[in-house]
Amino acid sequence: MVTIQIDGKKIRAAEGSTILDNAREMNIPIPTLCHNDNLTPFGACRLCTVEVKTNGKWTLAASCTTPVADGMEVKTDSDAVKESRKLAASLLLKKHPGTKAVRDVAASLGIELPEVKIEEHDCILCGLCVRTCREIVGVGALAFEDRGPGRELEEPRIVFDPAACIGCGACAVACPTGYVRMEEEGDRRIIWNKVFKMVPCSVCGRYFAPEAQLEWISEKTGVPFAELTTCTSCR
Ligand code: SF4
Ligand code: FES
Repeated sequence: MVTIQIDGKKIRAAEGSTILDNAREMNIPIPTLCHNDNLTPFGACRLCTVEVKTNGKWTLAASCTTPVADGMEVKTDSDAVKESRKLAASLLLKKHPGTKAVRDVAASLGIELPEVKIEEHDCILCGLCVRTCREIVGVGALAFEDRGPGRELEEPRIVFDPAACIGCGACAVACPTGYVRMEEEGDRRIIWNKVFKMVPCSVCGRYFAPEAQLEWISEKTGVPFAELTTCTSCR
């Protein structure tokens, strides 16, 4: 354990935990858009900025990626923090003025919202889909486009590997903006423009999972495919 101060209050914090983890335990509200407790922190949105004093100097840092250190002092509500969060939200809002998740966080920070239709489902490059696919599902069908030498991309984007995707839909659930669409119709599920054949439950007949996902589970666990064809409600 280490001792830190958040907004003037001394607390004991677990080594390896982040400032965000501890602030949340203290019920201090910190906005986030790219964070999920179950995934590796990414530091993309910069909405969770706080001020941190190290070696006598205050600097701004993303609370989701900054681990605690003994003696650390943190301010979560200073003018510099408010300014920095507003700037991050304003930049996002400028790029994605009609995306609800962005508008909600901007409004919570007191930013005036432009009057546009709220129907955009833009990708805000939060990386939640990429990390969910890789770290929770264990597949890795999504990645950020490589911007290495010779590439002329202005900004990264998500690339989809149809050969790897099992159609589980976890990325659609993780996506905060609705950019990842998942549609289901009868025995088909479409995600990232790939069509998956759905399997009907052997008891109730409801289409409940993509064939590719059940095959993948069968391969990983050794459980025969036929034993996986019952939906969770009928098991
Ligand atoms: S597709 Fe959605 S989850 Fe993935 S990076 Fe874009 S906004 Fe985030
Ligand atoms: S939540 Fe920390 S940078 Fe996005």
